[in-house]
Amino acid sequence: MSTADKIRVAVLYGGRSGEHEVSLMSATNVIQHLDRTRFDVVPIGIDKTGGWFLGDDILKKELNSPALLRLQQESERMLFNPDLLGKALQQIPSSQIIKHAGRIFDVVFPVIHGPLCEDGTVQGLLELAEVPYVGCGVLSSAIGMDKDVSKRLVQNAGMMTAPFLVIKSGQWEKNPQQFCDKVADKLRYPVFVKPANTGSSVGVEKVKTQAGLADAINTAFRYDTKVVVEQGIDAFEIEVAILESLEGDKDPIVSVPGEVRPTTAHEFYSYASKYLDENGAELIIPAPISEELREKVCRFAKNIFLALECEGMARVDLFLERGTNDIYFNEINSIPGFTKISMYPKLMAASGMSYSELLTHLIMLAINRHTRKTKLSREFLEA
Ligand SMILES: Nc1ncnc2c1ncn2[C@@H]1O[C@H](COP(=O)(O)OP(=O)(O)O)[C@@H](O)[C@H]1O
Ligand SMILES: [Mg+2]
Repeated sequence: MSTADKIRVAVLYGGRSGEHEVSLMSATNVIQHLDRTRFDVVPIGIDKTGGWFLGDDILKKELNSPALLRLQQESERMLFNPDLLGKALQQIPSSQIIKHAGRIFDVVFPVIHGPLCEDGTVQGLLELAEVPYVGCGVLSSAIGMDKDVSKRLVQNAGMMTAPFLVIKSGQWEKNPQQFCDKVADKLRYPVFVKPANTGSSVGVEKVKTQAGLADAINTAFRYDTKVVVEQGIDAFEIEVAILESLEGDKDPIVSVPGEVRPTTAHEFYSYASKYLDENGAELIIPAPISEELREKVCRFAKNIFLALECEGMARVDLFLERGTNDIYFNEINSIPGFTKISMYPKLMAASGMSYSELLTHLIMLAINRHTRKTKLSREFLEA
């Protein structure tokens, strides 16, 4: 395929969340493994202040061991800054507009995690710009990010979550004791205290007695204005990768389930066990569960993907309770970790789809969705 015929994929990396560094790793891998016979890469970095910058195609520079992505902050390379919203989405020097008038890319692949990345905000911007993009749309991105709303929808669809309570910062400031009493009344310790909208266990604490509750809630409020307190489940942590089918009438593709087993040094799958400790957790693929349970888990995960209106891909994280084998929904990640050794690509690989095939599939889904949407009318049509 000649360069002119290749699809130009803008890989978004970095982002404004606490998962900025994770994104750099994920996006490095994505850029490395995109099928270069079909795609050209346009890396676009977002720094922590929200500035957008055109990056280098690291693969072209260092073929064998590309350096980790970094952000280049020369002002003339700036593409988009929130301050400029309403003025221009792509303020790019004309010299950099490579061959097509207008856009320097055909499709966007957001490889950014957490708030202001994965939560529908960037997706909304891309909708406004009428650009095809990979993964969940605005609605499911926002729902998936919110640990309260996603759980309520899952319960509504007839599936279980851990019992939980929610508190907003205004209520907490007014009457913390009232909420602590409610937790004592309705939930059993240990409980997990979480900001409603974060990822990578940022701000998540396990609390074993009432004495530690207020401090943990205060910590969580440093990250969000809404906090979720949920009852701990003594469980295996099971994750399933779901991928929308390229055939519109087919069910999504469901991977084999995997298990995440934090090592004994960690009380739970914390930020430290995920990223700071190299041996902080073991990924076991496939999860060592019976065939019957595997089927149940896969059906549960697929139904969650559908109930939450997901598109493209999502990783569904479940608890499989020790002793009872009851399945609980924990959370969904619409842009899961995407390094080659991350759970999502590994689960898909174990289910027969290579990392490069997965990337191609996701990009084709994005283009198909966009094509379908451009055919819709915004005006009333006479019958
Ligand atoms: N209700 C719960 N019962 C048992 N463990 C939990 C519970 N909630 C969270 N955890 C532990 O905390 C980790 C992080 O919580 P999670 O809700 O997945 O947040 P994040 O989106 O930051 O990954 C989980 O992977 C699990 O180890
Ligand atoms: Mg999690």
